[in-house]
Amino acid sequence: MPYGFADIETPVPLVDLDRLAVNLDRMAAYAAMHQLALRPHVKTHKSSRIAAEQMRLGAVGLTVATPRELQVMSEVTDDIFLAHPPLGAKVRRVLTFSGDVQLRISVDSHVAIEQLGTACRQRDQTVDVLVEVDFGMKRMGVSDSGDAIRLAGAIRRQPGLRYRGICFYPGHIRQPVTQQEGLIEALCGDLHNVLAALDDAGLPAEIVSGGSTPAAFRMHLIPGLTEIRPGTYVFNDRDTYAMGACAWEDCALTVLATVISDAVPDQVVIDAGVKALGREPIRVQEGGGYGAVLDHPEVTVARMSEEHGILDLSDSVWRPKVGDQVRIVPNHACIVTHLFDAMLGVRGDIVETWWHVGARGRHSPELAPAPLSI
Ligand SMILES: Cc1ncc(COP(=O)(O)O)c(C=O)c1O
Repeated sequence: MPYGFADIETPVPLVDLDRLAVNLDRMAAYAAMHQLALRPHVKTHKSSRIAAEQMRLGAVGLTVATPRELQVMSEVTDDIFLAHPPLGAKVRRVLTFSGDVQLRISVDSHVAIEQLGTACRQRDQTVDVLVEVDFGMKRMGVSDSGDAIRLAGAIRRQPGLRYRGICFYPGHIRQPVTQQEGLIEALCGDLHNVLAALDDAGLPAEIVSGGSTPAAFRMHLIPGLTEIRPGTYVFNDRDTYAMGACAWEDCALTVLATVISDAVPDQVVIDAGVKALGREPIRVQEGGGYGAVLDHPEVTVARMSEEHGILDLSDSVWRPKVGDQVRIVPNHACIVTHLFDAMLGVRGDIVETWWHVGARGRHSPELAPAPLSI
């Protein structure tokens, strides 16, 4: 039964259902208009319910980063890209979880290819593989065409692995959207060179998977791109807003918190600290802090302890009272998701629904080799 916020124990993440719907529709329409396959990254919501909605709106499959995400999302679709190379014990785990899923995995090392190939042969399983290429983020991926060719060739030589193409994450493009043009142009040039080199080597990339939220709506400007993998767009956050990649009204996720102290002048304390908001600095400088109040964006979470957030009121005439509830737009929505077991779906001031954040967390007790006796 619907109920109001007063009945909710805080802190808790609220998802504005109308804003979520707008965000999901906008990206689905963009991908459809430009004939780009949409394969959203589920790390932002970690929930089968939102993933199912993404699939209903035309996503071709999902992107995941962890075995737990793979396990949960294999109930939603049979087409999943693990954009995070598994190594060691994780290789067997992801192959076990994949069940009926046509699994695709990114790699950027010969070790990952060998381990994956061996595990696939042992299980008589075939996995699609993409070579991860770096176009400027300097996190994962080879930046040299020769290295990409060598990895693609190595995948081809491993029975059990099927070379399908390349992937990249343009995480270095975090400038305000009005200043992204030069970086997109450079990316187009670099991508063209890698694709041409792979063609010449007889290793054409059938799949070219890229995409992010900050540069989401420029992806059609990249010749050769076949697929986009935005994640944050479902909720957006203060960081996305600061980059001009969404409007403040597009921020669908807030953390509802309660003011617990006004004892110190020019500030109040809320019951949401690091363990509710994450200690994520804002990447495009916009007043600093770790989040801002939805209805008073000039007020930021200036400092935090584990369970305390300090709202700096020095630039505001607004004076919340002890016991009041406030909604905080986090700097980075994906971190908040990871910190809570459930989310509430709200429309206006009414809680309409809730769902488990089913794909959060990592190890389950059953994964230990034997129960621990304590
Ligand atoms: C490999 C990969 N693909 C896609 C995404 C989604 O990007 P965004 O959060 O910018 O939407 C991420 C985000 O970290 C990523 O690491």
